[in-house]
Amino acid sequence: MYGNDIPELLGEVEAAEAALREAAARDTEATGGEVAYFEAVIQADQKIEPRDWMPDSYRKTLIRQIAQHAHSEIIGMQPEGNWISRAPTLKRKAILLAKVQDEAGHGLYLYAAAETLGVSRDELVDKLLAGRQKYSSIFNYPTLTWADVGAIGWLVDGAAIVNQVPLCRCSYGPYARAMIRICKEESFHQRQGFEILHTLSHGTGGQRAMAQDAVDRWWYPSLAMFGPPDADSTHSEQSMAWKIKRFSNDELRQRFVDMCVQQAGVLGLTLPDPDLRWNEDRQAYDFTQPDYDELMQVIKGNGPCNRQRMAHRRRAHDEGAWVREAAAAYAKKKAAA
Ligand code: 3HC
Repeated sequence: MYGNDIPELLGEVEAAEAALREAAARDTEATGGEVAYFEAVIQADQKIEPRDWMPDSYRKTLIRQIAQHAHSEIIGMQPEGNWISRAPTLKRKAILLAKVQDEAGHGLYLYAAAETLGVSRDELVDKLLAGRQKYSSIFNYPTLTWADVGAIGWLVDGAAIVNQVPLCRCSYGPYARAMIRICKEESFHQRQGFEILHTLSHGTGGQRAMAQDAVDRWWYPSLAMFGPPDADSTHSEQSMAWKIKRFSNDELRQRFVDMCVQQAGVLGLTLPDPDLRWNEDRQAYDFTQPDYDELMQVIKGNGPCNRQRMAHRRRAHDEGAWVREAAAAYAKKKAAA
């Protein structure tokens, strides 16, 4: 029912997990000091660990990317959280609750991975709240109907998995290990979205139209999630040389399109691109690129929901102050005992 892509992607996660164990068991031979050791580890496809020396720019790149990723998971709880009280059945509500809770967990794993690089979670959260760190563009679009919850699961979580499975092979150990767990959970998220859309697209005429409308609105923002085209990507070249990123933004976007066409067929829904067609020479689908000017506007804070998302996050942070204080007081008491 779900197509072959998800088992294939999960197979890649399993392989990355095995590679992590093998890498840890191998010795890296390098002479000539810290820089040579760092480069030898990257060359040998082993992992840089928190105790290892690393260039400052490698550390900064990781902090930037992992923090943005963590913030995306936390802000990403809002569009779907919006539907918890309105899910059509108790079962759907329980599933959605669990999913939104998973996103909070992903944020925690990622903040913890960033902390191994010498920044505190408080520092990163403060930067998000001050608008000095980003989160994914995709979460600045509204969820207008129940079908949007399905479209987010199928397309947004689907795009997230395609982007994140290669991160399981990232050269920084704590990030790679966090990604393995996250990808396993994301595959469930993608399937629940697919199943919601499948139910709607095989329901009444109105339900089918609602599913198609959601796919029409979420398709291009999902393609934009992969970032600017390679020619405009500031970090890709260096991040790929360091084996933080394993594929470029455009390569992953193409993989995602190719994966969705078959699944849209199973759903009986249309992808809103009249120029989408198989290219025999490239062995891939030709497709219309998303509007990158719109992506830049959303990244700059001018998307449909940017202000609302940040206002909500700041309010939640303020209202949660007493919980943080109580947890800190309890931890102090326990440590003293
Ligand atoms: N939204 C917001 N900012 C984006 C963006 C997007 N979709 N795509 C790119 N950018 C920003 C970059 O952060 C960078 O800005 P900066 O220099 O101020 O940090 C700038 O645009 C140029 O882009 P680059 O291609 O040079 O940036 P990267 O090399 O970092 O690539 C990325 C961008 C592919 C998103 C990469 O950072 C990445 O793979 N990150 C990890 C995954 C992630 O963060 N995913 C977010 C979604 S998480 C999610 O969806 C949760 C799930 O539960 C649904």
